[in-house]
Amino acid sequence: MKTKNNEKLIAVIGATGQQGGGVVRALQASSQFKVRALSRNPGKHRELADEVVEADLNRPETLKAAFEEAHGVFLVTNFREKGTDELKQATAAVRAAKDAGVKHFIWSTLPNVEAISGGKFDVPHFTGKARIDRIVKEAGFPHHTFVIAPFYYQNLVGALAPQKQADGSLGWALPLDPDVRCIHLGDITELGNIVAGAFVQSDQAGNGEYLPLVGDFMSFNEILETLIQQGHKFSFKQVPKEVFAGFFPGAAEIAEMFSYWEVHTYLGSDSSDRISLANKIAGRQPTRFSTWTRLNVPVQNP
Ligand SMILES: NC(=O)c1ccc[n+]([C@@H]2O[C@H](COP(=O)([O-])OP(=O)(O)OC[C@H]3O[C@@H](n4cnc5c(N)ncnc54)[C@H](OP(=O)(O)O)[C@@H]3O)[C@@H](O)[C@H]2O)c1
Repeated sequence: MKTKNNEKLIAVIGATGQQGGGVVRALQASSQFKVRALSRNPGKHRELADEVVEADLNRPETLKAAFEEAHGVFLVTNFREKGTDELKQATAAVRAAKDAGVKHFIWSTLPNVEAISGGKFDVPHFTGKARIDRIVKEAGFPHHTFVIAPFYYQNLVGALAPQKQADGSLGWALPLDPDVRCIHLGDITELGNIVAGAFVQSDQAGNGEYLPLVGDFMSFNEILETLIQQGHKFSFKQVPKEVFAGFFPGAAEIAEMFSYWEVHTYLGSDSSDRISLANKIAGRQPTRFSTWTRLNVPVQNP
């Protein structure tokens, strides 16, 4: 379980992605762990960590070697990857981690929209992750932790970047009431600080705690105002859910997610105690939205 230098080994699923990438960097920065980055294509990422090993959640036979000798495992599943069955993948990962004698398992979950809304909203990439929590809990690891990723700041320059609108402006057309403060958001690269902190402080954070990363809690109008104050000229138009659902594949689920946020917020309930604990475990306050945009969203107006 420990290396020659007495460092515990942590195996990271999703190490080449946004969540797991941040976890790898935070573990390396802590200098307390040996890091094993896992990927379906280890040959393409040789320099990523101390070890880079093959793991494919759709091929459970790869997970034995991936978790061998590991003290800890970080798991994220990728809902958006074609053919992903999050429950099946996570079940295989939990089983393999148990077989390998893993001591601390950290699962990147999301709120149970079905339970929170009494079945009113159907958001499979939230509820499907929440259903995995019980499997992690009941596996009986000496320590386990749930981390919750927020709405990534990075979405606003990535998958949900402003688009050219019919009136010629650049901005967003979303089925979301821009006045409702309901979005818990954050710099996803900072999830790793919570994960690394939890591995270090397993007595305080390894007993089934829920640790959300939240850099800010805003309405879309507050997001817009922040960007406009920094010199951007973005527009916002609220569009009906049914219209948005036809914009791109998967848009209907995003529209449903926004409806859930409006009524219950992203995290689904007052989470201030959990957020405080997460920040304490991370040992720092997450970056605020305005600070992140100043550094990451260059003003392109003439
Ligand atoms: N965008 C948001 O605001 C948001 C908010 C909360 C939660 N999420 C959730 O975040 C998850 C995605 O995480 P991310 O943003 O870190 O994704 P990402 O940057 O797209 O990276 C996906 C990672 O998953 C790995 N992966 C995919 N399929 C795999 C498989 N079969 N076996 C092993 N590894 C596999 C990939 O590794 P290789 O390609 O190297 O194998 C890659 O490292 C989604 O489930 C989404 O629901 C997103």
